Amino acid sequence: MPEHTVDEQLTKYLTDVHSIEEQALAQLRLAPRVAGDPELRRIFGEHLRETEEQERLVREQLERVGAKPSTVKDVAGRVGGWGMILFARVNPDTPGKLAMHAYSYEHMELAAYELLRRIADRAGNQAVRDMAQRIGAQERTMADRIAGSWDRAVDASLREKGAEDIGKDLVKYLRDAHALEAQALQLLETGPQIAGFEALAEVFRDHLDQTREHQRLVDERLAAHDSRPARFHAGAMRVGALNLGTFFKAQPDTPAKLAGFAYAFEALETGAYELLTRVARRAGDEETAAMAERIVGEERAAAERVAGTWDVAAELVLREMTVGAG
Ligand SMILES: [Fe+2]
Ligand SMILES: [Fe+2]
Ligand SMILES: [Fe+2]
Repeated sequence: MPEHTVDEQLTKYLTDVHSIEEQALAQLRLAPRVAGDPELRRIFGEHLRETEEQERLVREQLERVGAKPSTVKDVAGRVGGWGMILFARVNPDTPGKLAMHAYSYEHMELAAYELLRRIADRAGNQAVRDMAQRIGAQERTMADRIAGSWDRAVDASLREKGAEDIGKDLVKYLRDAHALEAQALQLLETGPQIAGFEALAEVFRDHLDQTREHQRLVDERLAAHDSRPARFHAGAMRVGALNLGTFFKAQPDTPAKLAGFAYAFEALETGAYELLTRVARRAGDEETAAMAERIVGEERAAAERVAGTWDVAAELVLREMTVGAG
């Protein structure tokens, strides 16, 4: 029966968001140590309390739909859980990196709840629908708070650094941006084949040319600083443990996950360029600052286009399940 499969799908997504919240809790408990600024520390502390409540609410709904704790445990530990894909090995070591990762993570949460809300709607589960809407709004607010704190995060990262050190930092940020664009290329080149639906594939194809151009521009700025991209991306940047391989093991929900993941990835890039803009300005490199500012706008626009595919993505998840049941 289709209704039965929609309920199953609902349970699966509830389990997914539960594991996302558990990972959020772990990250938020560590955040104050790295935040480097009282206001940032306060923001993270507040969201920790909010997240504790979110975890409880999701668990409550899971219990209501009758999911066994063992199921919850299984899926939480499963490699390929949403958060695991992008953040498994992330260990931000500066206030700037922390803000950038947190910003991306909030976007991933938002995407997950947007999807859950649509699925709950179709399953006729009003309680889950309302919960997803409410928590999604909290994630968006948290993302906005971080977006209002880029200056603060950069100040905290560069505090007590001399002009020479800031110049060196600028090269590091440029190299990170370069590595991030390399990962973006990987995502966008492979994405259309695993997207599973045309709307998302098209967004990927459109953003691919832009991404090549971003990388070229960053390359140019590196050259202007007598520098080059780092030879080993992994060494240059311990952010975004991007594991596209997970997506190749295509599952019915691969397109939906990819649509959420790509959104978080564009947010990660947005954060990287927000930081780069400010570090460049502090280093007196207006050209890099202007470039980064322009790219920020394009990353943000790409994220919004990805968000525009969520309706179709959710439909696809539900259709797959119904077809699968027949
Ligand atoms: Fe959350
Ligand atoms: Fe959150
Ligand atoms: Fe991008």
